[in-house]
Amino acid sequence: MIFDTHAHYDDEAFDGDRDLLLRQMTQNDVGGIVNVGASVRGMRESIALSEQYEIVYAGVGIHPDDIADLNDDLLQEMTDLAKREKTVCIGEIGLDYHWMIQPEEVQKEGFVRQLHLARELDLPINVHSRDAAQDTFDIIRSEHAHTTGGIIHCFSGSVEMAREYVKLGYYIGVGGVVTFKNSKTLKKVVQEIPLERIVTETDCPYLAPSPFRGKRNDSTRIRLVIDEIASLRGLDPETAGEQLWKNAREVYRLNRKTGLSGR
Ligand code: NI
Repeated sequence: MIFDTHAHYDDEAFDGDRDLLLRQMTQNDVGGIVNVGASVRGMRESIALSEQYEIVYAGVGIHPDDIADLNDDLLQEMTDLAKREKTVCIGEIGLDYHWMIQPEEVQKEGFVRQLHLARELDLPINVHSRDAAQDTFDIIRSEHAHTTGGIIHCFSGSVEMAREYVKLGYYIGVGGVVTFKNSKTLKKVVQEIPLERIVTETDCPYLAPSPFRGKRNDSTRIRLVIDEIASLRGLDPETAGEQLWKNAREVYRLNRKTGLSGR
């Protein structure tokens, strides 16, 4: 069974066929999806999707690009939304120095406030980090390490940094990028860290795996990501897939939650 630990089905790219696509997921072997909120609208819609579809769970968080929206009222709303049964993480949150839509200091402050929220609510985090590897790691280590764990989404760092995150109890999110020929470092990361610490994701509608690169992505295409991870680890896809499924349920604590389907 496939678990997508990071998706954006609230994106307008799915406006034409969202319902059909999500209703067909289980037929296509997808058993779990976490729709992460990246903006105020995005987190509200993530909650709505989790209420509508059994296999969809929600993340609430404000992405660094939108971090200027974070204030006390919004933190209160996030707290309320995070207490809902199908909210499984605070995310996506983090730092983005590539686009630098908000100044570095504002991003850091917003990231820290949301890490504290995750700690307070005892929820794992889902982290976005672009061109900000060291700052992301330093802030997580000082503000959140050894608390609730979580996923470093679309991991793009070195093998050494992946190992450091694993030591702190985090999982490494791997998606379509691992299938790209030029992703040498990520392929190495997948080979070097324990399989028990890898989770699959899409970031859909973005980052479709090869040979669909540049096309709209969706959770069914994680099959290609699992195949690549299996081949890099010298495993058969069924064995790798089973472990990756377990990892996702573990990091989001779905086995410990009562009243949720225990596929
Ligand atoms: Ni994302």
